[in-house]
Amino acid sequence: RHSEYKAQYNILDETTSFYQEQLRTSSHRDQAVTYLKSRGLTGKIAQVFGIGYAPPGWDNLLKKIGTTPDNLLLLEKSGMLIRHEERDSLYDRFRERIIFPIRDMRGRTIAFGGRVLGDDKPKYLNSPETDTFHKSRELYGLYEARKLSQKLERIIIVEGYMDVISLAQFGITYAVATLGTATTAQHIERLFKTVPEIIFCFDGDSAGRKAAERALEATLPIIKDGFQARFLFLPEGDDPDTLIRRESREGFEKRLNEAPLLSEFFFRSLEEDIDMTSMDGQAKFSNAALPLIQQMQTSLLQQMMLDRICKVTGLTLDQINNTINLTQSIPS
Ligand code: UTP
Ligand code: MN
Ligand code: MN
Ligand code: MN
Ligand code: MN
Repeated sequence: RHSEYKAQYNILDETTSFYQEQLRTSSHRDQAVTYLKSRGLTGKIAQVFGIGYAPPGWDNLLKKIGTTPDNLLLLEKSGMLIRHEERDSLYDRFRERIIFPIRDMRGRTIAFGGRVLGDDKPKYLNSPETDTFHKSRELYGLYEARKLSQKLERIIIVEGYMDVISLAQFGITYAVATLGTATTAQHIERLFKTVPEIIFCFDGDSAGRKAAERALEATLPIIKDGFQARFLFLPEGDDPDTLIRRESREGFEKRLNEAPLLSEFFFRSLEEDIDMTSMDGQAKFSNAALPLIQQMQTSLLQQMMLDRICKVTGLTLDQINNTINLTQSIPS
Protein backbone atom coordinates (compact mmCIF):
# COMPACT_ATOMS: atom_id res chain seq x y z
CA ARG A 1 0.00 0.00 0.00
CA HIS A 2 2.74 2.40 0.95
CA SER A 3 4.97 1.33 -1.89
CA GLU A 4 2.27 2.67 -4.18
CA TYR A 5 3.04 6.13 -2.86
CA LYS A 6 6.72 5.66 -2.22
CA ALA A 7 7.80 7.73 -5.20
CA GLN A 8 5.45 10.50 -4.15
CA TYR A 9 6.85 10.60 -0.61
CA ASN A 10 10.37 10.62 -2.01
CA ILE A 11 9.75 13.57 -4.27
CA LEU A 12 8.19 15.54 -1.41
CA ASP A 13 11.24 14.83 0.74
CA GLU A 14 13.49 16.02 -2.08
CA THR A 15 11.31 19.10 -2.37
CA THR A 16 11.65 19.75 1.37
CA SER A 17 15.44 19.61 1.08
CA PHE A 18 15.35 21.88 -1.95
CA TYR A 19 13.43 24.61 -0.09
CA GLN A 20 15.66 24.29 2.97
CA GLU A 21 18.71 24.62 0.77
CA GLN A 22 17.22 27.73 -0.85
CA LEU A 23 16.94 29.31 2.59
CA ARG A 24 20.73 28.90 2.88
CA THR A 25 21.85 29.59 -0.68
CA SER A 26 19.31 31.53 -2.72
CA SER A 27 20.42 34.95 -3.91
CA HIS A 28 17.17 36.17 -2.36
CA ARG A 29 17.74 34.46 0.96
CA ASP A 30 18.41 37.70 2.84
CA GLN A 31 14.77 38.77 2.73
CA ALA A 32 13.65 35.34 3.95
CA VAL A 33 16.15 35.27 6.80
CA THR A 34 15.27 38.83 7.75
CA TYR A 35 11.61 37.93 7.80
CA LEU A 36 12.13 34.84 9.98
CA LYS A 37 14.25 36.90 12.36
CA SER A 38 11.57 39.58 12.50
CA ARG A 39 9.21 36.83 13.67
CA GLY A 40 11.71 35.97 16.36
CA LEU A 41 12.64 32.53 15.08
CA THR A 42 16.06 31.05 15.69
CA GLY A 43 17.92 28.93 13.17
CA LYS A 44 17.56 26.01 15.54
CA ILE A 45 13.78 26.05 15.62
CA ALA A 46 13.67 26.62 11.85
CA GLN A 47 15.73 23.46 11.55
CA VAL A 48 13.45 21.42 13.82
CA PHE A 49 10.42 22.31 11.70
CA GLY A 50 12.29 22.02 8.42
CA ILE A 51 11.42 25.57 7.41
CA GLY A 52 12.50 26.53 3.91
CA TYR A 53 12.17 29.21 1.30
CA ALA A 54 10.68 29.26 -2.18
CA PRO A 55 12.49 32.08 -3.99
CA PRO A 56 10.75 34.32 -6.52
CA GLY A 57 10.30 32.77 -9.96
CA TRP A 58 7.92 30.43 -11.75
CA ASP A 59 10.20 27.47 -12.32
CA ASN A 60 12.79 27.07 -9.56
CA LEU A 61 11.41 23.74 -8.33
CA LEU A 62 10.40 22.72 -11.83
CA LYS A 63 13.95 23.10 -13.11
CA LYS A 64 15.65 21.55 -10.10
CA ILE A 65 13.49 18.48 -9.45
CA GLY A 66 11.23 18.19 -12.49
CA THR A 67 14.10 16.78 -14.49
CA THR A 68 12.36 13.64 -15.76
CA PRO A 69 8.84 12.95 -17.06
CA ASP A 70 8.22 10.77 -13.98
CA ASN A 71 9.24 13.54 -11.62
CA LEU A 72 7.09 16.08 -13.45
CA LEU A 73 4.11 13.79 -13.08
CA LEU A 74 4.79 13.25 -9.37
CA LEU A 75 5.24 16.94 -8.68
CA GLU A 76 2.01 17.75 -10.48
CA LYS A 77 0.16 14.97 -8.66
CA SER A 78 1.32 16.27 -5.30
CA GLY A 79 0.23 19.79 -6.18
CA MET A 80 3.71 21.28 -6.26
CA LEU A 81 3.42 22.13 -9.93
CA ILE A 82 0.33 23.65 -11.48
CA ARG A 83 -0.63 23.12 -15.12
CA HIS A 84 -1.34 26.16 -17.22
CA GLU A 85 -4.02 24.70 -19.50
CA GLU A 86 -3.82 27.13 -22.43
CA ARG A 87 -0.06 27.00 -22.66
CA ASP A 88 0.04 23.35 -21.66
CA SER A 89 2.97 24.10 -19.37
CA LEU A 90 3.75 23.63 -15.70
CA TYR A 91 4.79 26.19 -13.09
CA ASP A 92 5.72 26.25 -9.38
CA ARG A 93 2.81 26.57 -6.93
CA PHE A 94 4.97 28.12 -4.19
CA ARG A 95 6.81 31.29 -5.17
CA GLU A 96 8.47 33.84 -2.92
CA ARG A 97 7.16 32.29 0.27
CA ILE A 98 8.44 30.90 3.56
CA ILE A 99 7.82 27.16 3.35
CA PHE A 100 6.49 24.96 6.16
CA PRO A 101 6.67 21.23 5.45
CA ILE A 102 3.67 19.32 6.81
CA ARG A 103 4.75 15.90 8.01
CA ASP A 104 2.87 12.75 8.86
CA MET A 105 3.39 10.71 12.04
CA ARG A 106 6.41 9.03 10.50
CA GLY A 107 8.06 12.31 9.65
CA ARG A 108 7.50 12.10 5.93
CA THR A 109 6.54 15.34 4.21
CA ILE A 110 3.01 15.05 2.84
CA ALA A 111 2.28 18.68 1.93
CA PHE A 112 3.46 22.26 2.41
CA GLY A 113 2.22 25.55 3.68
CA GLY A 114 3.70 28.77 2.37
CA ARG A 115 3.57 32.28 3.83
CA VAL A 116 4.20 35.52 1.96
CA LEU A 117 7.00 37.65 3.37
CA GLY A 118 4.92 40.79 3.43
CA ASP A 119 1.24 41.63 3.47
CA ASP A 120 0.23 40.20 0.09
CA LYS A 121 -2.85 38.00 -0.20
CA PRO A 122 -3.40 35.17 0.25
CA LYS A 123 -1.22 35.23 3.33
CA TYR A 124 -0.96 31.45 3.48
CA LEU A 125 -1.09 28.97 0.64
CA ASN A 126 -1.41 25.24 1.27
CA SER A 127 -0.93 22.16 -0.87
CA PRO A 128 -4.20 20.85 -2.27
CA GLU A 129 -5.78 17.62 -1.04
CA THR A 130 -4.02 14.63 -2.59
CA ASP A 131 -4.00 10.86 -2.19
CA THR A 132 -1.54 11.31 0.65
CA PHE A 133 -2.76 14.58 2.16
CA HIS A 134 -6.16 14.94 3.80
CA LYS A 135 -6.62 18.18 5.73
CA SER A 136 -9.46 16.79 7.80
CA ARG A 137 -7.08 14.18 9.24
CA GLU A 138 -3.68 15.81 9.48
CA LEU A 139 -2.37 18.07 12.22
CA TYR A 140 0.60 20.32 11.67
CA GLY A 141 3.28 19.80 14.31
CA LEU A 142 2.18 16.45 15.71
CA TYR A 143 5.29 14.69 14.46
CA GLU A 144 7.52 17.44 15.85
CA ALA A 145 5.66 17.47 19.19
CA ARG A 146 6.28 13.76 19.61
CA LYS A 147 9.90 14.19 18.71
CA LEU A 148 10.48 17.14 21.05
CA SER A 149 8.76 15.77 24.15
CA GLN A 150 9.80 12.64 25.95
CA LYS A 151 6.30 12.04 27.18
CA LEU A 152 3.32 13.97 25.91
CA GLU A 153 0.73 14.59 28.58
CA ARG A 154 -1.41 17.14 26.81
CA ILE A 155 -1.68 18.75 23.41
CA ILE A 156 -2.77 22.27 22.48
CA ILE A 157 -4.72 22.79 19.26
CA VAL A 158 -4.04 26.18 17.66
CA GLU A 159 -4.92 27.77 14.33
CA GLY A 160 -1.64 28.44 12.62
CA TYR A 161 1.84 27.28 11.71
CA MET A 162 3.46 30.25 13.40
CA ASP A 163 1.55 29.58 16.62
CA VAL A 164 2.93 26.02 16.79
CA ILE A 165 6.49 27.11 16.03
CA SER A 166 6.48 30.11 18.32
CA LEU A 167 5.13 28.08 21.25
CA ALA A 168 7.82 25.46 20.63
CA GLN A 169 10.51 28.09 20.61
CA PHE A 170 9.35 29.24 24.04
CA GLY A 171 9.45 25.67 25.34
CA ILE A 172 5.83 24.69 24.86
CA THR A 173 6.61 21.84 22.52
CA TYR A 174 3.19 20.24 22.50
CA ALA A 175 1.06 22.34 20.16
CA VAL A 176 -0.46 21.28 16.84
CA ALA A 177 -2.47 23.20 14.25
CA THR A 178 -5.36 22.35 12.02
CA LEU A 179 -4.60 23.23 8.43
CA GLY A 180 -6.96 26.05 7.61
CA THR A 181 -9.98 23.86 8.39
CA ALA A 182 -12.26 23.39 11.37
CA THR A 183 -11.32 20.79 13.98
CA THR A 184 -12.81 17.44 12.92
CA ALA A 185 -13.81 14.34 14.86
CA GLN A 186 -10.87 12.62 13.21
CA HIS A 187 -8.46 15.21 14.59
CA ILE A 188 -9.83 14.81 18.10
CA GLU A 189 -9.83 11.03 17.98
CA ARG A 190 -6.25 11.00 16.81
CA LEU A 191 -5.19 13.31 19.64
CA PHE A 192 -7.01 11.33 22.32
CA LYS A 193 -5.09 8.28 21.11
CA THR A 194 -1.93 10.19 21.96
CA VAL A 195 -2.79 12.14 25.14
CA PRO A 196 -5.58 12.23 27.76
CA GLU A 197 -5.95 16.02 27.62
CA ILE A 198 -6.41 18.44 24.75
CA ILE A 199 -6.61 22.20 25.03
CA PHE A 200 -8.21 24.25 22.30
CA CYS A 201 -6.58 27.64 21.97
CA PHE A 202 -7.78 29.63 18.99
CA ASP A 203 -7.21 33.27 18.12
CA GLY A 204 -8.80 35.95 20.27
CA ASP A 205 -11.24 37.11 17.62
CA SER A 206 -14.77 36.24 16.55
CA ALA A 207 -13.52 33.57 14.11
CA GLY A 208 -11.55 31.98 16.95
CA ARG A 209 -14.53 31.94 19.28
CA LYS A 210 -16.67 30.39 16.56
CA ALA A 211 -13.97 27.77 16.01
CA ALA A 212 -14.04 26.96 19.73
CA GLU A 213 -17.78 26.40 19.69
CA ARG A 214 -17.47 24.10 16.71
CA ALA A 215 -14.64 22.26 18.43
CA LEU A 216 -16.85 21.79 21.49
CA GLU A 217 -19.60 20.27 19.36
CA ALA A 218 -17.07 17.97 17.68
CA THR A 219 -15.62 16.88 21.04
CA LEU A 220 -18.88 16.14 22.88
CA PRO A 221 -19.66 12.84 21.10
CA ILE A 222 -16.07 11.63 21.52
CA ILE A 223 -14.99 12.47 25.04
CA LYS A 224 -14.88 9.63 27.57
CA ASP A 225 -14.20 9.43 31.29
CA GLY A 226 -10.46 9.65 31.84
CA PHE A 227 -10.08 12.22 29.07
CA GLN A 228 -10.26 16.00 29.32
CA ALA A 229 -10.77 18.92 27.00
CA ARG A 230 -10.14 22.54 27.91
CA PHE A 231 -10.87 25.77 26.07
CA LEU A 232 -8.41 28.60 26.46
CA PHE A 233 -9.65 31.99 25.27
CA LEU A 234 -7.08 34.64 24.49
CA PRO A 235 -7.39 38.40 24.90
CA GLU A 236 -8.99 40.16 21.94
CA GLY A 237 -6.49 40.54 19.12
CA ASP A 238 -4.01 37.97 20.42
CA ASP A 239 -3.07 34.61 19.02
CA PRO A 240 -0.80 32.08 20.78
CA ASP A 241 2.22 33.50 18.95
CA THR A 242 1.67 37.11 20.05
CA LEU A 243 0.67 36.11 23.56
CA ILE A 244 3.65 33.92 24.36
CA ARG A 245 6.00 36.64 23.16
CA ARG A 246 4.49 38.93 25.79
CA GLU A 247 3.92 36.53 28.64
CA SER A 248 6.56 33.90 28.03
CA ARG A 249 6.23 30.23 28.90
CA GLU A 250 5.20 30.68 32.52
CA GLY A 251 2.39 33.08 31.74
CA PHE A 252 1.07 30.95 28.95
CA GLU A 253 1.18 27.72 30.98
CA LYS A 254 -0.64 29.44 33.82
CA ARG A 255 -3.43 30.28 31.40
CA LEU A 256 -3.43 26.69 30.10
CA ASN A 257 -3.76 25.27 33.59
CA GLU A 258 -6.61 27.58 34.45
CA ALA A 259 -8.51 27.21 31.18
CA PRO A 260 -12.14 26.14 31.59
CA LEU A 261 -12.95 22.48 31.15
CA LEU A 262 -15.40 21.29 28.53
CA SER A 263 -18.42 21.16 30.85
CA GLU A 264 -17.68 24.63 32.18
CA PHE A 265 -17.41 26.13 28.71
CA PHE A 266 -20.49 24.18 27.62
CA PHE A 267 -22.75 25.61 30.31
CA ARG A 268 -21.21 29.03 30.23
CA SER A 269 -21.76 29.46 26.49
CA LEU A 270 -25.33 28.14 26.69
CA GLU A 271 -26.25 30.37 29.58
CA GLU A 272 -24.71 33.42 27.95
CA ASP A 273 -27.81 34.90 26.36
CA ILE A 274 -30.42 33.32 28.64
CA ASP A 275 -32.11 34.71 31.74
CA MET A 276 -31.51 31.73 34.02
CA THR A 277 -33.67 33.18 36.80
CA SER A 278 -36.86 32.76 34.79
CA MET A 279 -38.69 29.51 34.22
CA ASP A 280 -38.82 30.21 30.49
CA GLY A 281 -35.10 30.76 30.44
CA GLN A 282 -34.47 27.50 32.27
CA ALA A 283 -36.64 25.62 29.77
CA LYS A 284 -34.85 27.24 26.86
CA PHE A 285 -31.51 26.34 28.41
CA SER A 286 -32.53 22.72 28.96
CA ASN A 287 -33.92 22.36 25.46
CA ALA A 288 -30.64 23.59 24.00
CA ALA A 289 -28.43 21.51 26.29
CA LEU A 290 -30.19 18.15 26.26
CA PRO A 291 -29.80 17.20 22.58
CA LEU A 292 -26.09 17.93 22.86
CA ILE A 293 -25.61 15.97 26.08
CA GLN A 294 -27.56 13.17 24.47
CA GLN A 295 -24.83 12.83 21.84
CA MET A 296 -22.24 12.11 24.49
CA GLN A 297 -20.90 8.69 25.34
CA THR A 298 -22.52 7.19 28.39
CA SER A 299 -20.16 8.40 31.10
CA LEU A 300 -19.94 9.94 34.53
CA LEU A 301 -19.38 13.29 32.86
CA GLN A 302 -22.62 12.91 30.94
CA GLN A 303 -24.49 12.01 34.12
CA MET A 304 -23.07 14.98 35.94
CA MET A 305 -24.01 17.34 33.15
CA LEU A 306 -27.53 15.96 33.24
CA ASP A 307 -27.53 16.42 36.96
CA ARG A 308 -26.73 20.05 36.44
CA ILE A 309 -29.85 20.43 34.28
CA CYS A 310 -31.92 18.72 36.96
CA LYS A 311 -30.59 21.16 39.54
CA VAL A 312 -31.28 24.16 37.37
CA THR A 313 -34.84 23.09 36.51
CA GLY A 314 -35.75 21.21 39.69
CA LEU A 315 -36.93 18.30 37.53
CA THR A 316 -35.93 14.65 37.79
CA LEU A 317 -34.34 12.82 34.86
CA ASP A 318 -37.52 10.80 34.42
CA GLN A 319 -39.59 13.93 34.21
CA ILE A 320 -37.22 15.36 31.62
CA ASN A 321 -37.27 12.18 29.57
CA ASN A 322 -41.05 11.94 29.70
CA THR A 323 -41.62 15.53 28.75
CA ILE A 324 -39.14 16.18 26.04
CA ASN A 325 -39.56 14.43 22.77
CA LEU A 326 -36.06 13.06 22.38
CA THR A 327 -35.41 10.56 19.64
CA GLN A 328 -33.47 8.50 22.10
CA SER A 329 -33.96 8.85 25.78
CA ILE A 330 -31.12 9.83 28.03
CA PRO A 331 -29.87 7.09 30.33
CA SER A 332 -31.23 7.63 33.83
P1 UTP B 1 -4.30 33.50 10.71
O1 UTP B 1 -4.93 34.43 9.75
O2 UTP B 1 -4.73 33.52 12.12
O3 UTP B 1 -2.76 33.65 10.61
O4 UTP B 1 -4.44 32.05 10.11
P2 UTP B 1 -1.97 34.78 11.33
O5 UTP B 1 -1.83 34.48 12.77
O6 UTP B 1 -2.56 36.11 10.97
O7 UTP B 1 -0.62 34.59 10.55
P3 UTP B 1 0.74 35.26 10.89
O8 UTP B 1 0.94 35.19 12.35
O9 UTP B 1 0.65 36.67 10.37
O10 UTP B 1 1.74 34.45 10.12
C1 UTP B 1 -4.15 30.89 10.84
C2 UTP B 1 -4.00 29.73 9.91
O11 UTP B 1 -5.08 29.68 8.97
C3 UTP B 1 -4.62 29.23 7.71
C4 UTP B 1 -3.15 28.88 7.88
O12 UTP B 1 -3.03 27.51 8.20
C5 UTP B 1 -2.75 29.77 9.03
O13 UTP B 1 -1.63 29.26 9.70
N1 UTP B 1 -4.74 30.26 6.66
C6 UTP B 1 -4.75 31.58 6.98
C7 UTP B 1 -4.80 29.89 5.34
O14 UTP B 1 -4.80 28.68 5.03
N2 UTP B 1 -4.86 30.86 4.36
C8 UTP B 1 -4.84 32.20 4.66
O15 UTP B 1 -4.86 33.05 3.74
C9 UTP B 1 -4.81 32.56 6.01
MN1 MN C 1 15.86 36.78 -9.26
MN1 MN D 1 -7.12 34.55 12.88
MN1 MN E 1 -0.31 35.07 14.02
MN1 MN F 1 -3.55 33.97 14.02
